Amino acid sequence: MQWAGKVAIVTGGASGIGEATAREFAAAGSTAVIVDLNEERGRQVAADLRSHGQSAHFSRLDVSDAEACRVVLKEIIAEVGRVDFLVNDAASFVSKGLDVTTTDWERSLGVNVRGYANMVQACLEPMRAAGGGAVVNVASISGHIAQPNRWTYNATKGAILSLTRCQAMDLAPFHIRVNAVSPGWIWTPEVAKAAGGDRAKWEPVWGRYHLLRRLGEPREVARAILFLCSQDASFITGAELPVDGGYLAMGSEGLGDTSSFAGTA
Ligand SMILES: NC(=O)c1ccc[n+]([C@@H]2O[C@H](COP(=O)([O-])OP(=O)(O)OC[C@H]3O[C@@H](n4cnc5c(N)ncnc54)[C@H](O)[C@@H]3O)[C@@H](O)[C@H]2O)c1
Repeated sequence: MQWAGKVAIVTGGASGIGEATAREFAAAGSTAVIVDLNEERGRQVAADLRSHGQSAHFSRLDVSDAEACRVVLKEIIAEVGRVDFLVNDAASFVSKGLDVTTTDWERSLGVNVRGYANMVQACLEPMRAAGGGAVVNVASISGHIAQPNRWTYNATKGAILSLTRCQAMDLAPFHIRVNAVSPGWIWTPEVAKAAGGDRAKWEPVWGRYHLLRRLGEPREVARAILFLCSQDASFITGAELPVDGGYLAMGSEGLGDTSSFAGTA
C-alpha cells in the first residue's frame, strides 16, 4: 500500500546501485523516474520495466547543472504528477590526489556534492505538495577513511554525510526525512571495470576488506534505500546506514586467521 501511486526519482538510475534501486521501487508499485547522463541505457532500463507492466520514466540530466535540474523536474512533474522519494546516487568517480586539478575538483564537487543539493532544491516544492517524503543520499565507506590518491572522491563522500545532516534539519519541517547509505564494495559496472571484469580473481582479494568476506550486490543497497524511504523508517532522519558487509567495523588487524571460516553469511 505504501508504494502504490508514489513517484521515486533516482539519479544515476541507468546503472549499478541506481538501476537496482529504480527496479526495486518499480517492483514495489511506485513509478521509477530514472535520471541519468546515459540516455541509451536509461531508456533501456525504463523500457524494460514498462515491458514487465511496471511504471517507469527516463529523463536525461546532468545533476551538476542546477538550472537543468529545475527545468527537468518541471518536465517530470508534467509527466508523472508528483514526487515522493528522491535518491541521489549519480556520482563522478574522479579519483585524484597530489595531481588534482581545478577541473577535477569542479567535476567531483559539482556532481557529488552540488548535484545532490541541486536535486533536493529542485524536488522540494513537489515533495511538499505531496505532503512530505524521503530523500536518500548515497555516500560511501570512502567518506570515513583514507585511500590512496582519492582526495576528490573521498572528500565529496565525507561532504555528502555532512550535507545529509544539514538537509535533514532544514527539510524536517516539511515532513521530509533525509538519510544516507554508505555502501562497501558493491559489484557494479564501475567496480567491474576496476576488476577488468574478472570477479573470480578480485572477489577473494576485495572481499577480505569486509567482515562478510565478499562484495555486495546492488540489490542489497537498493533494499536498504527502500527501507529508509518506507514507513518502517518513520522516525529515522539525519542518519547514515552503512551497507558495507562490516567494512567500517574492521580494525587494522584485518580478518586475522580465516582458515576456519566456513562461508559467507
Ligand atoms: N560500487 C561501489 O562499490 C560503491 C561503493 C560505495 C559507494 N558507491 C556509490 O554508489 C553510487 C552508485 O555507484 P555505482 O557503482 O552503481 O556506479 P555506476 O557507474 O554503475 O552508476 C553511476 C551512474 O551515474 C550516472 N552519472 C554520472 N554522472 C552523472 C551526472 N552528472 N548526472 C547524472 N547521472 C550521472 C552514470 O551515467 C551512471 O549511470 C555512487 O554514488 C557511488 O559513489 C558505490
